[in-house]
Amino acid sequence: MGLPRGPLFWLLLLFAVVCSGILVALYSSAVESYPGPLTGARNITSSRAFFGPKASNSRTRKNLPCRHPLYLAIRRHPHFRDLFDLSIPVLLSGNLFTQELWDSLSRHKAPYGWQGLSGQAIASTLSLLNGSESTRLFAVSRELLPGCIRCAVVGNGGILNGSRQGQNIDAHDYVFRLNGAVIKGFENDVGTKTSFYGFTVNTMKNSLISYSNLGFTSVPQGQDLRYIFIPSDIRDYMMLRSAILGVPVPEGPDKGDSPAPTGPHTATVPAPFPSPHSPTGRTTAPAALSTSIVGPRPQTYFGPEASASKFKLLHPDFISYLTERFLKSKWINTKFRDLYMPSTGALMLLTALHTCDQVSAYGFITSNYQKFSDHYFERIKKPLIFYVNHDLSLEATLWKDLHKAGILWLYQR
Ligand SMILES: *[C@@H]1O[C@H](CO)[C@@H](O)[C@H](O)[C@H]1NC(C)=O
Ligand SMILES: *[C@@H]1O[C@H](CO)[C@@H](O)[C@H](O)[C@H]1NC(C)=O
Ligand SMILES: *[C@@H]1O[C@H](CO)[C@@H](O)[C@H](O)[C@H]1NC(C)=O
Repeated sequence: MGLPRGPLFWLLLLFAVVCSGILVALYSSAVESYPGPLTGARNITSSRAFFGPKASNSRTRKNLPCRHPLYLAIRRHPHFRDLFDLSIPVLLSGNLFTQELWDSLSRHKAPYGWQGLSGQAIASTLSLLNGSESTRLFAVSRELLPGCIRCAVVGNGGILNGSRQGQNIDAHDYVFRLNGAVIKGFENDVGTKTSFYGFTVNTMKNSLISYSNLGFTSVPQGQDLRYIFIPSDIRDYMMLRSAILGVPVPEGPDKGDSPAPTGPHTATVPAPFPSPHSPTGRTTAPAALSTSIVGPRPQTYFGPEASASKFKLLHPDFISYLTERFLKSKWINTKFRDLYMPSTGALMLLTALHTCDQVSAYGFITSNYQKFSDHYFERIKKPLIFYVNHDLSLEATLWKDLHKAGILWLYQR
């Protein structure tokens, strides 16, 4: 890149290092004198999503306050403090489903709303997300879990190939992964722990098709793992409903897909949608129709445990807020408007920033991305190509700026 490397450069670099050392020292002492989250000075607990003991088996630093809680870095930053609203609901659950929400979301297309989507399909799905665990990512509210929640979000970028970051990633309390998250064969580089797996049905199925020969033959599964659905299409609502009910998808492009393994000979297919439809979304469970599935066994994705607590749904308003404030791409004012949305990785990283106390980002785009392959699991280097459905250069700038602001830590090399 032809950067100047004269004596002045090194002098400036030294100066910068010394200054940042001073800043870190000042910052640390400020953090140390800060009373910490236990005193309630951080009052963002009511609507942030929190982890439960079941999802955690490695809280070795239990009860220690964060050294660098991200909310403090946000509060001190002149630009980001006006962008972040840590009290915005991250997840959509049945208890938020009102006529008002319906009217407001009906004015926007997916993933920002429900325009043109079947109200019955949505109501039926949301009625299953009516427990309190559907309102937060984690099983127990924050008051019961003092301490610092450290999250790693693992993107699939080529920078992770040969990184040997596996242990560092697994040392976080919770690990988010997404799309074609190949683990086998890359344990040293990407770790093995998965607390959350985020996707749209489209990106999940595309990953299974495109990367199966590179080792992505199934979606991560596990007792403590939770799935985060990104509602980019009616397919996501339908798959989510079928996943909770543990039945094949009744209609649409994913018809017959079975989110969970079903019995060897027959599967129970529910009536397409419950009727009559209650406007509150609190529909009664549909009477199941027993139907024989003939032909090849359908795909299964999420393992045997079907229950509402296993599946989370990002709130369309949260996706709007993220797009509007953090990733307002130039594509929004062009004919590509309807193709554009933040990438799955961006949505997961921003979800973590709105739910965890400290966030590390691995495998996300960096300014030297051209040195690396598109994905860490490719065998032959493949360039990262920028398509109009995402705005990866805008995302790269955002991660760099959030890293500089001390709001997240971005793995770079
Ligand atoms: C924190 O927020 C909750 C609900 O939003 C409120 O009831 C409570 O009084 C707040 N606590 C403080 C210390 O501001
Ligand atoms: C949620 O809805 C189901 C079925 O409609 C019902 O059986 C269950 O009791 C509801 N749970 C809560 C917490 O409202
Ligand atoms: C992955 O890293 C290894 C060295 O660690 C290198 O030999 C290989 O070419 C890399 N793969 C790709 C696809 O860049």
